[in-house]
Amino acid sequence: MNLSMKDKIIKRFLEAKDEPISGQQLADDLGISRTAIWKHLQNLQEEGYEFITIKKKGYKLIAVPDRVDAAKISSYLKTKRFGHTIHYFEEIDSTQRLAHQLARDGAKDGTIIIAEEQTGGKGRMQRTWYSAKGKGIWMTVIVRPDLLPHQAPQFTLIAAVSIVMAMKSLYTNFTPEIKWPNDILINGKKCVGILTEMLAEMDRVDGLLIGIGINANHEQTDFPDELQEIATSVAIEEKQKVDRAQLVAEILSYLERYTDEYIENGFKSIKQLWVEHSCTIGKRIRASTIREVIEGKAIGITDEGVLEILLDNSQIKKVYSADIEIQNQ
Ligand code: BTN
Repeated sequence: MNLSMKDKIIKRFLEAKDEPISGQQLADDLGISRTAIWKHLQNLQEEGYEFITIKKKGYKLIAVPDRVDAAKISSYLKTKRFGHTIHYFEEIDSTQRLAHQLARDGAKDGTIIIAEEQTGGKGRMQRTWYSAKGKGIWMTVIVRPDLLPHQAPQFTLIAAVSIVMAMKSLYTNFTPEIKWPNDILINGKKCVGILTEMLAEMDRVDGLLIGIGINANHEQTDFPDELQEIATSVAIEEKQKVDRAQLVAEILSYLERYTDEYIENGFKSIKQLWVEHSCTIGKRIRASTIREVIEGKAIGITDEGVLEILLDNSQIKKVYSADIEIQNQ
């Protein structure tokens, strides 16, 4: 794992839970002097970490700032490669933009870029993505599987299934549902948006950039007026504040697992999970594409993640990209 010395120290304390660690122990474990450890602890206090000294035992971490930084994420991480390189920012224009640059420069499979705040968050169809400071998970994962370009959209579905499974494993007060192609809704309101982009040549994908935006700890009043009726957060639905770093680590576990499963066995089992958690299939919908508006019943998705709509005249129409509205039946 690629951690700075500061992050290694924090990770050590987070993993020790309530146990104190002696300065000598830390110095030995990390291969630096006790003075260097002491200096790091001073700097960490300035960043909002609080330590107490316990006589003859060492330092104990008693307060941690609410951040999704590398140390905190890696203290929860159980993956083989995803999240082993973390680029963390207090503020960035867009994690997606930096991911393009890092991927072009050869970033490793599973590298993540994550920020507390985005000043130019990107949504689908050239929309902006509202990314309030310290409230959400604004992250891009760089994935480098051996793929053909037409397979890339499947990764939006793989990401959606990974996020739903991570939420189901951590929370109990709500059931997340996937709305084709890239939203996760809770009780009918949007909580997550996914934006998958790729670097590719004509015949092969060089890298996928899976942008994930999760409204995590927003209260309803944190959303701007235009989102009031349509957006929700994990905390609102779970009825308590959530640990964003823990959710990130859980998502990375599922994303790595389903990516590997996909490479090994193809899309079938993941497609099955997607359909099980979808709130789109079986519903009457109205799909607005750039060219037309289509109404009918969503009957399934193809292996490429294309939505199939049964029209009133019994024709089946395939939709590659659209905004959809689920109609009351
Ligand atoms: C959508 O629903 O339109 C997709 C939204 C994707 C937002 C995420 S937040 C992290 C990453 N960086 C961005 O600029 N966008 C994606």
